[in-house]
Amino acid sequence: MTICTTISDLKLLLLLHRKKGQTIGFVPTMGALHNGHISLIHRAKSETNVVVCSIFVNPTQFNNAHDLAVYPRTLEADCQMLEKAKCDFVFAPSANEMYPIPHQIKFDFGSLEHVMEGKFRPGHFNGVGIVVSKLFNIVQPDKAFFGQKDIQQCAVINRLILDLSFQIDLVICETERENDGLAMSSRNRNLSEEQRKIAPKLYENMWLCSQFLQEGQPVAMVKDFMQIALKQIDGIELEYFEVVDRTNLESIETYKRNQSAMCIAAFLGKTRLIDNMLI
Ligand code: PAF
Repeated sequence: MTICTTISDLKLLLLLHRKKGQTIGFVPTMGALHNGHISLIHRAKSETNVVVCSIFVNPTQFNNAHDLAVYPRTLEADCQMLEKAKCDFVFAPSANEMYPIPHQIKFDFGSLEHVMEGKFRPGHFNGVGIVVSKLFNIVQPDKAFFGQKDIQQCAVINRLILDLSFQIDLVICETERENDGLAMSSRNRNLSEEQRKIAPKLYENMWLCSQFLQEGQPVAMVKDFMQIALKQIDGIELEYFEVVDRTNLESIETYKRNQSAMCIAAFLGKTRLIDNMLI
């Protein structure tokens, strides 16, 4: 596995592979890797010849200074996991390498900016759009692999690929979960022992809500249920719980089998967790 910290080194090395006709798979991350990321690497290995994983805690997508400050940074352990997973290249640039001058461009992803993550983290998708465009231009992958846990990010990347004509296949991979159902996330390591015990309640209650919807209970009643259920758990503060149309992520009033999704965001102390379920 080769670790590159500069854009020019990575571009040159990837060009040699491209010239041999090899396809490139790309897994962008912010590090603090867990088995969810590693499953993306495995998927990329199975579908492309050369796999690149980027590790860059992108400052432009954080709208909360505390969140950026405490975001776990574990480059050495990440590289060990990637080596074991037979990743070919790690791209770990500095902030100065990625942003040598302050960026000016602004992305507006339309209605996706005004719901859920867009609404509660203003500017977040602008930062994601900027860094992912830069990374796509640097790596020029044939396929890019993203986790479904960030369902709205996947919708934003899909839009980015369409609007900017990137010749990249977007592969969305299922959310990996711990045995108790908690969606794997780099932020989980910021949970205290007590918070870690209650964190799976998000998934448990979403699963209950999925049953209610499939039994024909109205969306409004199911949303109320989630509010009430989580209010009873000390230490969880619900930010949003939405039942949405899978294609545009807009809220719906009537559940449609195999066309809907439930999305949730909640704070456990200062740690913000998100999850979703296709239904
Ligand atoms: O999902 C993430 O880890 C980040 O948003 C991404 C796509 C690596 C961009 O910084």
